[in-house]
Amino acid sequence: MPHPEHFHTIIIGAGAAGLFAARTAGRAGSVLVLDHARAPGEKIRISGGGRCNFTNLHVSADNFISENRHFAKSALARFTPGDFLDLLARHRISWHEKTLGQLFCDGKATQIVDMLLAEARAAGAELRLQTPVSRVEKTDTGFRLTTAGGALTCRNLIIATGGKSIPKMGATGFAHDLARQFGLAVTRTRPGLVPLTFPNRRFAPLSGLSLPVRAIAGGATFAEALLFTHRGLSGPAILQISSFWREGAPIHIDLLPGIDLTGRLRARRQTHGRRRLTTELAEFLPTRLVEFRAPELGLAGNLADCPDARLRAIEQALHDWSLTPNGTEGYRTAEVTVGGVATDALDSRSMQARAVPGLYFIGEAVDVTGWLGGYNFQWAWASAHAAGSAIAPVG
Ligand code: FDA
Repeated sequence: MPHPEHFHTIIIGAGAAGLFAARTAGRAGSVLVLDHARAPGEKIRISGGGRCNFTNLHVSADNFISENRHFAKSALARFTPGDFLDLLARHRISWHEKTLGQLFCDGKATQIVDMLLAEARAAGAELRLQTPVSRVEKTDTGFRLTTAGGALTCRNLIIATGGKSIPKMGATGFAHDLARQFGLAVTRTRPGLVPLTFPNRRFAPLSGLSLPVRAIAGGATFAEALLFTHRGLSGPAILQISSFWREGAPIHIDLLPGIDLTGRLRARRQTHGRRRLTTELAEFLPTRLVEFRAPELGLAGNLADCPDARLRAIEQALHDWSLTPNGTEGYRTAEVTVGGVATDALDSRSMQARAVPGLYFIGEAVDVTGWLGGYNFQWAWASAHAAGSAIAPVG
């Protein structure tokens, strides 16, 4: 039997984290990046509406969900948004800040994929696509992989196969299964950054309507836009709280963030008492939404007929709209997977499995899930940099 082909490091997953790890791992010896997909970096390509929200200026460990809130600190501190911007400058990729520190390419997201491929190539890494891995075994000196292209061996194995979101794009639970195979714990996983659904197409009449709100769930609050859809609720505010929401629990929507409605309408009552209450509310909210909530809130009549107590009750109902979703759109559309390989099992400086020397987990596969806004890519870059830099040279 021929000897299996040997590499110092094999990286499974040619997504954001895997390609970026090749860049630093290549300094220590030969690197092979494997992926079962036809093309590398597919999620990067479609991210940020095709412009890739590749990092966030305000990144800190507080922007991540994990059973260990401190785990991400070390890697994030050693590869910062500024470091990624330096790399973009070297590749002459221009960018802009959209909102809340979110940085996007001026051009296409494929510029980021091309940059990662160029960096990996410059580090001497080889890329093999359409190569599924069916088996991974530990050997005395590293790992043996059975792939569609034959057997391979390596000293170091980096798992960068991401989470379960968007199976149509090649997402699998490979990293989680492999972690379990090696006796490492995996936290409960669920879809994150995902639209919430409601029974009976409840919000279909409002479909397409968007407004700024404060959304609250699971102890988290986000002040961003909400979007009504045929199936339920979406928009940045909802995607953000979906990562914190637990099945069966209500979410709370403040439709009038920072507005003292009672005070404002009381003043209007003096001068515009004969105006309809719905007309007055439409000064603060989209008319379609006022009409939608009118029967439930009892908005019939004129402003003059509305005493303070009723105004206060209406205001309260608009500041705290409690809604219980019946689910999410699931992994089919979720931008991320919340949960993953337990951080207890990994060294936070190197991402190496404590119990399995030479085995590393990076990116979304790990139980570190970022908010919406470029945080997930920054985690991919930072965790990849940590693992790639930790690979000891051949010797
Ligand atoms: P990633 O999913 O990128 O890569 C995993 C790779 O492993 C894939 O190439 C896959 O084919 C491969 N793979 C999986 N299973 C395998 C197996 N069994 N064998 C071999 N290969 C396997 N984040 C952000 O910060 N800003 C943004 O703008 C967006 N936008 C966005 C839009 C959409 C539509 C989605 C779905 C996601 C985002 N994200 C995002 C999230 C971001 O894309 C995600 O967190 C990172 O891509 C994670 O990087 P990884 O490298 O860990 O996984």
